[in-house]
Amino acid sequence: MSWKTKALPALGAASLLAVASTAAVAGDGYHERYSNFFEPLPYFAPIPANNSLTPEKVELGTMLFFEPRISASGVISCATCHNPALGWSDRIPRATGHDGQVGDRNTPTVLNSGFFGAQFWDGREPDLEGQALGPIEADIEMNMPLDEAIARLEEFDEYKQAFARAYGTEAITPERVAHALASFQRTLNTPNSPLDRYLRGDLSAMTDQQKRGMAAFVDNGCTACHNGPALTDSLFHAIQVPGSSDLGRYLVTGDEADRYRFKTPTLRNVALTYPYFNNGGTETLTEAVQVMGREMLGREFDSRTNADIVAFLHALTGDQPNVAIPALP
Ligand code: HEC
Ligand code: HEC
Repeated sequence: MSWKTKALPALGAASLLAVASTAAVAGDGYHERYSNFFEPLPYFAPIPANNSLTPEKVELGTMLFFEPRISASGVISCATCHNPALGWSDRIPRATGHDGQVGDRNTPTVLNSGFFGAQFWDGREPDLEGQALGPIEADIEMNMPLDEAIARLEEFDEYKQAFARAYGTEAITPERVAHALASFQRTLNTPNSPLDRYLRGDLSAMTDQQKRGMAAFVDNGCTACHNGPALTDSLFHAIQVPGSSDLGRYLVTGDEADRYRFKTPTLRNVALTYPYFNNGGTETLTEAVQVMGREMLGREFDSRTNADIVAFLHALTGDQPNVAIPALP
């Protein structure tokens, strides 16, 4: 046994050898040329200095994420719209919240959201801490004033104890709620997709069609915006997807140049998170790829290229987080 296999007991000698030998085979004609355009998804999202990630905060954040009693109706939780069984989204075009009201926008997945450099379609919050309290108060989401949400949590000794375990004292504050929700969401990552395994040297992790799709994705310029570990630049680009009159980033900045600009969404797990675009107006990946080619790149893909790119997008589905639904007090 060499020192290397001893130092990495969790991987096991067999899997190390397997990776080493596949990487050693002469290339597949794609890996050398295209793998540098992508980054494997790390197992952990970056953790901000002011919100250390601890098991106690994650445990509390899990409870809060599934807690419907912080909504005015008492029946809507974060997980209503970010449903673990539906790719942590809702599979409907536009979210339905308090009193059955339909919002203006499609629910994005919260998977890998710790890797995004901006939150919401219009980037109105920079990070998960800033994002967390918005939906509780939003009248078309959970419609609950924060002080009332906190008063409800204070009714339960179990919550006071969970806050004490996470933060040292029983006090329930908006900041603590936000930090716990952010911590939980930072654990919802999906590493180990076929693309990740391929990038790490397992040349058989993607099919030939997926490799052709990867090449088309790079050669046609999709990586100009869909790049980095979550395949988003977290920047805003002008587009009017079919059926949308949403002004996007302009609503946040008031800057004319931001009209119809939207944040590049992650493409990780995109096969699970239909329908697509800010208005959820596009049902299939085939259509979404066609819209992107046309609107972003001025290209009409033939059906074979489109199918190859769609096959590649399926290679972005990773290991899903194994979250046990918490028992709430
Ligand atoms: C009624 C449905 C609904 C509920 C309830 C809800 N969300 Fe959302 N969530 C949405 C929609 C719709 C958006 C996109 C809104 C926008 O961009 O303007 C969103 C966006 C987000 C984002 C940004 C993701 C991205 O790609 O930018 C995060 C993170 C998030 N929600 C977490 C939460 C948390 C945490 C809760 C509970 C406190 C919650 N949501 C409750 C529908 C919902
Ligand atoms: C100029 C930047 C840019 C380029 C280039 C680009 N995209 Fe996009 N992509 C975006 C933005 C912004 C959106 C969100 C648009 C919206 O909903 O209004 C998006 C949305 C998508 C979606 C829908 C994701 C979802 O969850 O709703 C898919 C799929 C997609 N792009 C794939 C591609 C492919 C494939 C290419 C290359 C053919 C490509 N994109 C090129 C910026 C870009």
